[in-house]
Amino acid sequence: MEIRSLGADMDDATRTAVLAQFTALYEHMGRLGLSTPLVADGASLWLGSVAPMFGRLTFVLVAEEDEQQLGFVAGTIRSTPPHLGSERVGMLTHIHVAGEARGRGLGERLVRSLRAAFADRGVLRMETDALSGNTQAQRFFEKQGFVADHVVYRLDAERS
Ligand SMILES: CC(C)(COP(=O)(O)OP(=O)(O)OC[C@H]1O[C@@H](n2cnc3c(N)ncnc32)[C@H](O)[C@@H]1OP(=O)(O)O)[C@@H](O)C(=O)NCCC(=O)NCCS
Repeated sequence: MEIRSLGADMDDATRTAVLAQFTALYEHMGRLGLSTPLVADGASLWLGSVAPMFGRLTFVLVAEEDEQQLGFVAGTIRSTPPHLGSERVGMLTHIHVAGEARGRGLGERLVRSLRAAFADRGVLRMETDALSGNTQAQRFFEKQGFVADHVVYRLDAERS
C-alpha cells in the first residue's frame, strides 16, 4: 500500500476514484445526521476548489494498492485571526477509507502523512472535526492523539 499526494494534473481514473470516495464520505455522514448534504456535483466543486492550491495550502493524499484507491485524506492550511495570533493551523477536512479496507491501519497512515505534509511547511498544529453522531470517527481521531475541544451548535430560523 502506498500513499501519494495528488497534483492538479491527476489522471482521470484517480480523479474519478477520489470523487467517488468523497461522495461516499458524505453519504456516510448523511446516514449519521449531517444537516448539510452534498449538492449535486458537490464532489467536483470541492475538488475544483482545492486543486489550484495543491502542495501549497491544500493537500489530498490517496492510499493505493494494486491500482485501487482505498482511502484519502484532505487538508488545508488556514490562519487564525490576528486577535488569536495569526497562527497557521493544518485542518484535516476529510478522511475516508473504503469499507473493506478499514481496520488495517490505512486511516492512521493517512493522518500521519498529512501531518508530515503540514510539518514540512512549518505547520505544527492540526485540527479536525467530526459529527456528534460519528462516534467511530471520534474514537479514531482520539486514537491519533486529537483532543476534543469545542462543540458546534446549530439553530435554524423558525418557519412561520
Ligand atoms: C474513520 C476511518 C477513516 C478510520 O480508518 P481505518 O483505516 O479503519 O482506521 P485504522 O485502521 O487506521 O485505525 C487506527 C486506530 O483507530 C481506531 N479506530 C479505527 N476505527 C475505529 C472505530 N470504528 N471504532 C473505534 N476505534 C477505531 C483503532 O483503535 C485503531 O487503533 P488500533 O490499530 O490500535 O486498533 C474509517 O473508519 C472511515 O473511513 N470511516 C468513515 C468516514 C468517516 O467517518 N470519516 C471521518 C469524518 S470526516
